Amino acid sequence: MRAALVAILSGLCIGKLQAQADNNTLPHLVTQDGHHALIVDGAPFLMLGAQCHNSSAWPATLPKVWPAIDFLHANTLEIPVYWEQFEPEPGRFDTSVVDTIIKQAREHNARLVLLWFATWKNGSSHYLPPWMKSQPDKYPRIIGKDGRRVDSPSPHAPATLAADIRAFSALMRHLKAKDTQHTVIMVQVQNEPGSWNTVRDFSPEAEKLFTSPVPAELLKVMGTNAPAGGGNWPEVFGTNADEYFHAWHVARYIGQVAAAGKSEYPLPMYVNASLRDPLTPGPASKYESGGATDNVLWIWKVAAPAIDVLAPDIYQNDSAHYLKVLELYSRPDNALFVPETGGTSGQARMCFAALGHGAIGWSPFGLDYTKYASQPLGAPRLTEESLGQVALNYRILGPIMREVARLNFEGKLQAVAEEKDELRQTLDFGNWQAVISYGVARNGSPKGNSEPVGRALIAKIGENEFLVTGAFCRVDFKAAAGGQRDFLRVEEGGYEKGAWRPLYIWNGDETDWGLDFSSAPQVLRVLLGTY
Ligand code: DGJ
Repeated sequence: MRAALVAILSGLCIGKLQAQADNNTLPHLVTQDGHHALIVDGAPFLMLGAQCHNSSAWPATLPKVWPAIDFLHANTLEIPVYWEQFEPEPGRFDTSVVDTIIKQAREHNARLVLLWFATWKNGSSHYLPPWMKSQPDKYPRIIGKDGRRVDSPSPHAPATLAADIRAFSALMRHLKAKDTQHTVIMVQVQNEPGSWNTVRDFSPEAEKLFTSPVPAELLKVMGTNAPAGGGNWPEVFGTNADEYFHAWHVARYIGQVAAAGKSEYPLPMYVNASLRDPLTPGPASKYESGGATDNVLWIWKVAAPAIDVLAPDIYQNDSAHYLKVLELYSRPDNALFVPETGGTSGQARMCFAALGHGAIGWSPFGLDYTKYASQPLGAPRLTEESLGQVALNYRILGPIMREVARLNFEGKLQAVAEEKDELRQTLDFGNWQAVISYGVARNGSPKGNSEPVGRALIAKIGENEFLVTGAFCRVDFKAAAGGQRDFLRVEEGGYEKGAWRPLYIWNGDETDWGLDFSSAPQVLRVLLGTY
């Protein structure tokens, strides 16, 4: 009976939603009309990610990583490659750990984003191999304004740059040879680069550069905002000179590492940023200076063209801050990718807010079972219960991730997360408005969920037809031209190789008050009319 219904209903489907996969295509980013997609196996791919803890990328700890990834149904694991492990002696590269990670990822049907922990890790240089750390004059840290060394690598250190380029190139060369099936889909170059506790390097070399002319490329993008004839950093940038100078040189350095790696094997590459407060930033002394904070994205874009994406690590908990960051990093010249964020129940819904800004991926930090707890930043000590809301996201989105990525790329998708005290949200689709309400009883008015956990995703797939999913919310529609909304047909189903496969029809209680989503992963295809 069900098979017959499926056969009849599938005849009503509007063609395939997805191009045939092509395993030979190298992962790459595409942009069209200001929308972005990460192409994996020849089609848009949505990274439903999880990042393990910093010290979890060892054969001894991986058995505590994979059970969490499997439980979550994450399709992508973000995992470090440590320079200290990869190059134990100058010029000798140990690929054994990265090979183990790739092998196990395949066994767990997961893709990888490799995090190159090298010159910078959270603004310091703690992942330099010991043979480098023991030569601090050759591989120097920066000097603060008071003349003391600061625990942050100098971006003006040719020997460190040359060593990083050599090691990163070896890694990318190895991936090219080893990973012909593209298990690794993207690479993070360094980790939260920049400097804490000083706005820039004040060493003699840095001082010389600071009073040299601002590079012509930078003046060019400034257009008429640049002083005629240019000038040195203080002359051109005044009070911002210290910070902009540092951002330029950190970005320039990392851009060279990325470009060298890409010349071996051109996977998509990104840099993650420790953020400044997006609403009330304050001076650079209050955040990590030199990284890709929102005020210097334009500098990074010019200084490091080999970096495809500047990606925010979002640990802000309130939605005003979170949403502002999403807005700042989703730009026609920058695909939104959230490579780190909190993994708590309260933050899980923000995955949908990110999708609403066109995200190509979203990935909470610290989701493994090693029992390390990084509160208040990342996830608390994990249990299947605390992972539940992120797992729910991935149970909803996993089966439709190709369609979500494609519809976002085509600019047809909108998605939202519940905000405290905002009981109803409206999304404008032209001839239809989608109305999402939270904490609503059958025919009552919305009261909001006791905690804001609601989320909804809606894509317009035909003139009067929508793909709808969500959790802890009600979705309904209003016709812009007036008239009462009529559900002509509401199918629950899923996609198989890009073709919609309906399972059954919703009607009666399931549609009389609107479309109610709870904690069950349900995807609907909704045909609307009016009367
Ligand atoms: C942000 C960093 O990028 C991560 O590697 C990690 O250190 C987290 N902060 C917090 O634990």
